[in-house]
Formats: sequence, C-alpha cells, structure tokens
Amino acid sequence: MSTRNTPNLNQPREQWGTRFGFMLAAAGSAVGLGNIWRFPFVVGEGGGAAFVLLYLGFVLLIGLPLIIGEISIGRKGRSNAMDSYKVIQPNSKWYLNGFIGVIVNFMILSFYSVISGWALYYFILALTGNLLANEKNYENAFGGFITDPIMPIVWQALLMSIVVLIVLRGVKKGIEKWNNILMPTLFVLLIILVFKSTSLENAQEGLQFFLQPDFSAINSGVILAALGQAFFSLSLATGMYVTYGSYKRNENSIVGNAGGIVFLDVFVAILAGLIIFPAVFHYGIDPGRGPDLVFITFPYIFTDMPFGTIFAVVFFFFVFVSALTSAISLLEVVVAFVKEKFNLSRKVAAPVTGIVITTVGAFTALSFGPLSHITLFDLTIFGLFDFIAAQVLIPFSGFLLCIFLGWVWKPHEVKLEVEKEGNKFPLFKLWSFLIRYVIPVVLLVIFLDSIGIL
Ligand code: TRP
Repeated sequence: MSTRNTPNLNQPREQWGTRFGFMLAAAGSAVGLGNIWRFPFVVGEGGGAAFVLLYLGFVLLIGLPLIIGEISIGRKGRSNAMDSYKVIQPNSKWYLNGFIGVIVNFMILSFYSVISGWALYYFILALTGNLLANEKNYENAFGGFITDPIMPIVWQALLMSIVVLIVLRGVKKGIEKWNNILMPTLFVLLIILVFKSTSLENAQEGLQFFLQPDFSAINSGVILAALGQAFFSLSLATGMYVTYGSYKRNENSIVGNAGGIVFLDVFVAILAGLIIFPAVFHYGIDPGRGPDLVFITFPYIFTDMPFGTIFAVVFFFFVFVSALTSAISLLEVVVAFVKEKFNLSRKVAAPVTGIVITTVGAFTALSFGPLSHITLFDLTIFGLFDFIAAQVLIPFSGFLLCIFLGWVWKPHEVKLEVEKEGNKFPLFKLWSFLIRYVIPVVLLVIFLDSIGIL
C-alpha cells in the first residue's frame, strides 16, 4: 500500500470503552427524530400500514446489508468517513464517496439541529409547566413558535452547544458515556407511553390504520417515501457507520451489531407508531397533517391525562434525548473529518464545526417564518436541504457504496474483515448477491426517479 495516500494518523486512534459502546452509539444515531417525529407523519401521509410494511422490507433487504458493509469499511480503514476509503483503495477516487457522506451530515445537521431545538423548547416548556393549557390551542401555539424570527434560532443554538460539549469530550468519555445513559432511559419511557396510549378510547381505530395494510394505498410516491424513510431513520450510507465503526474493536461481531441496531431502530419506530396513532384518532387529528403531527398530538393527550404534566415532561425529554444522540453522530462525522484533515484537536474542531453548521442551519430555521417566501423548485430553504441531502445525495452515495463493496473492494475482502477474531458472517452468499445486483439497481431507479429522469 502506498504510504503517500494513507492518512497521517499521528495520534493513537480513539476506541469505544466497552463491547456495547459501538452498538449503543450507532443505535443512538439511528434512533432519533426520524423515528418519533418523521416516521409517524410519513406513515400518515403514506396511508398507514402498507407503507409500514414497505419500510420494513427496505430496512431488512437494503438497510441491514449496507450497514454491515459500511461498518466493515470503517473498521478496516480505521479513519474518518473519507480517508477510510483511501486506506482500502489507495490511488483511486473512491474517497469522494466518503466525502459526499461528510457533506450530507453537514447538511442534515443544519436542519436537524433546528427540529431538535423545537424538541428542546417543548421539553423546557413542559418542565416549567407552560406547555399544557385548558383551551388546547396547540396548533396556534406551535405555529407561532416556529414562525418567530428569533426563538427557533435561540433554541437551535442552545441545542448545538450541548452537542458540541459532548463531542468535544471524545468518543469514550463523551459520546459513549452519554449514549449509555440516554438510550436505556429512552426505552423505558417509550414502553410506559405505549401502555397509556393504547388504553385510550378509540385506540383500535388508530391501531388498525397503523397495522392493517390497505395495499391500494401503494403507488410509486409511497414506495419512494418508504425507502427514503428507511435510509434516513437508519442514518444509512452517510459515513456514520464508517466513522463509528472506525473506533470499533475487532473482537465484536459486525453482523451481530448491525442486527442489533436495525432491531432497536425498528422497535422504536413501531412503538412510536403505537403511541401516536391511537391518540391521533382519539382526538380526531388528521394523521396526514405533516411535520407538526407530534408537536400537536401529544399536548392534546397530556392535557386529558391524569399526571399529564409529568408525562409531558417525560415524553418531550425523550424526544429531545433521541434527537440529541443523533445530532451527536451527525456532528461527529464532520468533526472526525475536519480534525484529521486539518490536523486539529477535538477541542478546536468541534466548536468551529458546530458554529459553522449552526449558522447555515439558522437559514433553514427562518424558512418556516420570515424567509418562507424564498423558494426554489417550490421548496423552502429547509425543504431544499432535506431534498438534496435525503433524496439526491443519500441514494446516489448508497448506490456508489454498493458498487464499491460489491465490485471494487469485493465481497470476499469484506468477509475477511467481518470474520476477524473468529466471528461469523451468516448468509454471506445472500449478502453478496443483494449488494452486487439487487440493491444497486433499486437505488439507481429511485435516484433517477427522484431527480426526475424516470
Ligand atoms: N437517523 C437519525 C434519525 O432517525 C437521523 C440521522 C443521524 C441521520 N445521522 C444521519 C439521517 C445521517 C441521515 C443521515 O433521526
């Protein structure tokens, strides 16, 4: 291997502290607003259970194999999202695919920090007893907040400060430690809420919408949306698994961890659905009303519930925490890149990157209010960021990832990495077939469709 092309790693590389470190952190990235805020409203818009089935199919047939491949790239390359490709294929341009990942994380965090800021604001409102009101005019309250020219940016900046402080502390003492505390808390909270919501009057109607498929609701738009949701929710094909995998120990099973991450991500999305849809139908809210679904449905539930004030605090804490662990991973991918590329310490790279992202993100925050008139292709600034990152760059990069794994680095090399230290690669033949033939074709079709060529 030529040394000229190998990244210069002058400090010993950080590693996760325990065997659960990687899995919880990666699951912390995957489980987020995508599960709790995005999943319910895209299910609502996509017509319910049939959408959920498609999403599950994509998670298993595309998500799981790609996660295994991405982790392997990171653990082999032991470098940031871009340089890991360079270690594996020196003297080639494949590292550019890793660079796309860095850009995607940058763009997603710009607007993800805004929505996470909304969640933080709602948590503080609940905590200070200012969220619930007997008049229940929650639509107006929320609309007033997100269109305000200042408040959303203040909360976005606050949220980003917390993220920077955690990423600054590094992999073991920052990211791992916080995920170990926050992720289990999250599961306990969710389960309590499922019991509450499914015992509401009319809960069956909501459960039916969520669990009983009506296949006539499926069309090409719904298929696209289900695939997009699977990718977004798993943090797929964006270098997160490469970056987090680069801190992973060789003893731990890649396939086992990938399976665990997928299970947790789907589990939380399903629980979120089980909480939201019974409530949506109980209160006569339109399940297809869009991105504000969660912020409006929940205050309704809590107003009418015994101990509702406490549940409101708990629930919005949960939304905030799951957003936080995802935002941490989004920032870490960019920071790992900036730090190694420009030879900076974490202490410098984290705040600098954080400030740049917050500044760019502020424009997406304003596009709900004062800048809502600025549009391109009918999309606001927020919509444009989301579209370019999630609908164009991610499927494109996922396609390149398959070609890289299946035809350039090659399946047998991936197998060697996965089977290190006596670990197993079950269903390897199937994996290889999916990665080489099935997934690239599906992604190419989707990509061409989303940029309007098909
Ligand atoms: N998966 C996270 C969620 O569901 C969001 C996220 C984190 C993400 N990293 C990502 C999305 C990278 C796309 C790409 O909320």
